Amino acid sequence: MVQLERQPAGISHQDPSPRTPRIPGGFPARRPRRLRRSEGLRQLVRETHLDPADFIYPLFVSETISRPIPITSMPGQFQYPLSALGEQAIAAAELGLGGVLLFGIPEVKDALGSGAYAADGVVQRAIRAIKDAAPDLLVVTDVCLCEYTSHGHCGFVRDGEVQNDETLELLAREAVSHAAAGADVVAPSDMMDGRVAALRDALDAEGYATTPIMAYSAKFASVFYGPFREAAESAPQFGDRRAYQMDPANGREALREVEQDILEGADIIMVKPALPYLDVLARVRDRWELPLAAYNVSGEYAMLKAAAANGWLDERRATLETLTSIKRAGADIIITYHALDAARWLAER
Ligand code: PBG
Repeated sequence: MVQLERQPAGISHQDPSPRTPRIPGGFPARRPRRLRRSEGLRQLVRETHLDPADFIYPLFVSETISRPIPITSMPGQFQYPLSALGEQAIAAAELGLGGVLLFGIPEVKDALGSGAYAADGVVQRAIRAIKDAAPDLLVVTDVCLCEYTSHGHCGFVRDGEVQNDETLELLAREAVSHAAAGADVVAPSDMMDGRVAALRDALDAEGYATTPIMAYSAKFASVFYGPFREAAESAPQFGDRRAYQMDPANGREALREVEQDILEGADIIMVKPALPYLDVLARVRDRWELPLAAYNVSGEYAMLKAAAANGWLDERRATLETLTSIKRAGADIIITYHALDAARWLAER
């Protein structure tokens, strides 16, 4: 290591004194606590800053309800009817959030998830409602079939298996219909092979060459999606998602998934969940320059909320520390159910 500090004068090896650094250049010349003495100093040297514009707020919109319904496993989150979305959008815009991410719960589900790509589907109508209420708020849509299929899987099922290539066409139709309804960004979360290329081709062919794709690139088969499946009514009716989402044990494979999405045309890449995968996030950050998103998922939110409700954690500090850790690990964008609260707390500081 390069020695930066001068040795204190008058000290030799024969003449040890209490001020002799045991490690040359270390203490007492170097005192890391000097920069921690006051909030002014701490702020001056702070490496990571949260900004409401970093946050994307997920919203669940349901066609089957007429007033907001609380999601029990996600305190503070609701399924919203179309009529209540405008208010949420205005709150998000006023707080300066980066955007909202829409999930739809259709009235009717079928084997092909046709509600996902219906021109007057729930998300398509939600996009228009939000654009009416808050025209400048960025609207991202989740592109997946699981909320729309009767079996709850993310693709077309035959013989008990999700069929990759046949699913691509349905996803492409869904993305195009979101873009046509006014979505600013489409975000495929299904984990089919080749979906980014399929979406890019379809969007380009239909006149949406300028619509960016935020790809859920390294999406793991995580137990932390549990509360979401209550919220989105999208739990698989048989089996699980391990034949298409990634094995939680695989970090190197995550890098290959990200690389493939970039080659296929992803504009923004994502790691999901966030907290149990901060190592993956940091490795992706080191390797690629693309904007990087992390999804602080429903189970991560539920854990923190449960601890806070019991008085075991200070909710505000735990939330801001969590979000800071995700950003420090390398995320530019954080998709989080804490978005509104965190933005309010940041404004108060
Ligand atoms: C849809 C989708 C899921 C989530 C986002 N998009 C659920 C899943 O894959 O089962 C999870 C988000 C969360 O837990 O907050 N496929």
